[in-house]
Amino acid sequence: MGGYPKTVYFTGPNEPVGKEVVLRGLRVEGTLPPEVRGSFFRAVPDPAHPPKFDTDHTLSGDGMISRVSFHGDGTADFAIRFVRTARYLAEQEAGRARFGKYRNPFTDDPDMAGVDRTVANTTPVWHAGRLLMAKEDGRPYRVDPLTLDTLGSYDFDGALKSGTMTAHVRIDAVTGELFFYGYEADGPASSKVAYGVVNADGALQSEQWFDAPYCAMMHDFTISENYALFPIYPTTSDLDRLKAGGEHWHHQPELDSWLGVMPRYGDVADIRWFKGPKGVHSYHMMNAWEDEAGMLHFDACLNNTNAFAFIREPSGIFLQPQEIQGALTRWTVDPRADGGTVVETIIGPPGDFPVIPARLQGRRYGHGWMLSMNPQLQGPPLFAGPVGVGFNMLLRLDGMDTATPRVTQALPLPPQAAYNEPVHVPAADPAYDGWLIMIVDQQVGDQLVHEAWVVDAGKIGAGPVARVVIPARLRPQVHGWWVPQAQLDALSA
Ligand SMILES: [Fe+2]
Repeated sequence: MGGYPKTVYFTGPNEPVGKEVVLRGLRVEGTLPPEVRGSFFRAVPDPAHPPKFDTDHTLSGDGMISRVSFHGDGTADFAIRFVRTARYLAEQEAGRARFGKYRNPFTDDPDMAGVDRTVANTTPVWHAGRLLMAKEDGRPYRVDPLTLDTLGSYDFDGALKSGTMTAHVRIDAVTGELFFYGYEADGPASSKVAYGVVNADGALQSEQWFDAPYCAMMHDFTISENYALFPIYPTTSDLDRLKAGGEHWHHQPELDSWLGVMPRYGDVADIRWFKGPKGVHSYHMMNAWEDEAGMLHFDACLNNTNAFAFIREPSGIFLQPQEIQGALTRWTVDPRADGGTVVETIIGPPGDFPVIPARLQGRRYGHGWMLSMNPQLQGPPLFAGPVGVGFNMLLRLDGMDTATPRVTQALPLPPQAAYNEPVHVPAADPAYDGWLIMIVDQQVGDQLVHEAWVVDAGKIGAGPVARVVIPARLRPQVHGWWVPQAQLDALSA
C-alpha cells in the first residue's frame, strides 16, 4: 500500500491533513459586529487513510466537523474532529482503507459488506437543536455541537425509511419546517427518491417515495412557498457498471434534464415534469420563488456539463477549461400546468456556492451572493477543491426578483488565494444586510495561510471588517452553517 495519490485531489491545498485540533483564544483583528456571536460549522472531507484506488478524489474523504466560535470578547476558538462514522471506525481499526471507489460498494473489502459506507462530509445541518453531518449517499450522523462528539447515525428516532438523505435540505424560515429528499433511497443506482418534511420540533411528519425519470445525481433541490422542486440532470448511475467495479457517475450529455414540481404538502403522485436542455448540470440552486402571476422561478448555478473532471473523464468527456461554460440561470415554469418545457433565462455570471438570507428561503428575494472567478486576476489561482481550482471572487447580486438581476458588488482575491463557501449572518436591524463569514485560503511562499473573514454583506467591496488567522493547516471545506450563540446556549440550559 503506497501513500496518497500524487493527483490534484491529494496535493497542494488538497493534501490530506487529518489532524484533530482545538485552538482557543485566537485574536480577532478588526471589529467584530455584535451579531457575529456564535459558531460557524464547516464540513471538511479529509481521508484518514490513503485510498484503495489512485483514481479517488476529494468527495470520498472522511468527514471532519469543524467549528469557528466567535465570542463577544474579541477572541475566537477553532476546533476540528473526525466524524466517527462506521466507516471511519472500521478503517481506524485496520489502519488502512477498507472501502473502495466513490459510492461503489462492490469495490470494498468483502468483510465490509453491510457496513455503513457514508463519510458524512458535505453539510453540517442545524435544525431543531440538532446538528447533523450529512452526505447524500447515506443517512446523516448526529454530532454534539458543543463537544463535536459523534452521537451516531441519525434516522429521526426510527422514523426515516430512506437509506439516504440529501446534504442540501431547505428550511422554511416562516414555518420552521425542514424539507429534504433522499435519492437512490433503496440502494445504489436506484431511481427511487424519498421526499420528507420535518416539523419545527424536528419530528419527521411525512416521507413519500417517487421515481425519478432516471437515476441521477440529485445534489440539491429547492422549495418555494407552495411547491417542492426536484431538478434532474443527466449525471447518471448504473448497477451493472457498479458491479463491474466502475465509477458511480457518468455524465450523459445526450439525455434531457428535468424539473419535477409538486405542491410541497401534496402527494408525490402529483409531480409534474418540465423538460430542460440536454446535457446540463448544476450542483447548487440559489432559490426558488413564485411571482404575483403564480409563475415559478428556479435559480441555479447551471453548467453545460458536470463541473468535475473525475466525473466527466470516465464518461469519455474530455474538455478544456474554457469549454466548460456556466451561468446563474433561471428556469421558469407554470406550476399549474400539466408539465411542459422550462423557459430558460441567463440571469448572472458563472460560479457556484450561492447564498441568500435564510429568512428568504423559498420566498421572493431581492439579493444574494455567490462565488465566481476573477477575470482580471494577475496571476495563478489557487489549485484547490474538487474542481481543482478555487473560486477567487465574491459577488453580490441585486434585482433577483426582476427579469434582469445584476452584479452590483465584488470582492476579488489576489492570485493564489481562494474562498470557501460563505455563510450569512443576519443583522439585528433588518435595514442592514447582515454579514458573510468564510474561510479564505492563501498560498504565501511555501505556506498555506487560512483566515476566517467577516464581510459586511451590504458592502462586500470594502473587504473584511474582521479577520481571524487560524494557525493550523486546513483542507478545503464543502458547506457550512451558522448557528447563533443564543441557540447553542439554549442547549446547555
Ligand atoms: Fe453541495
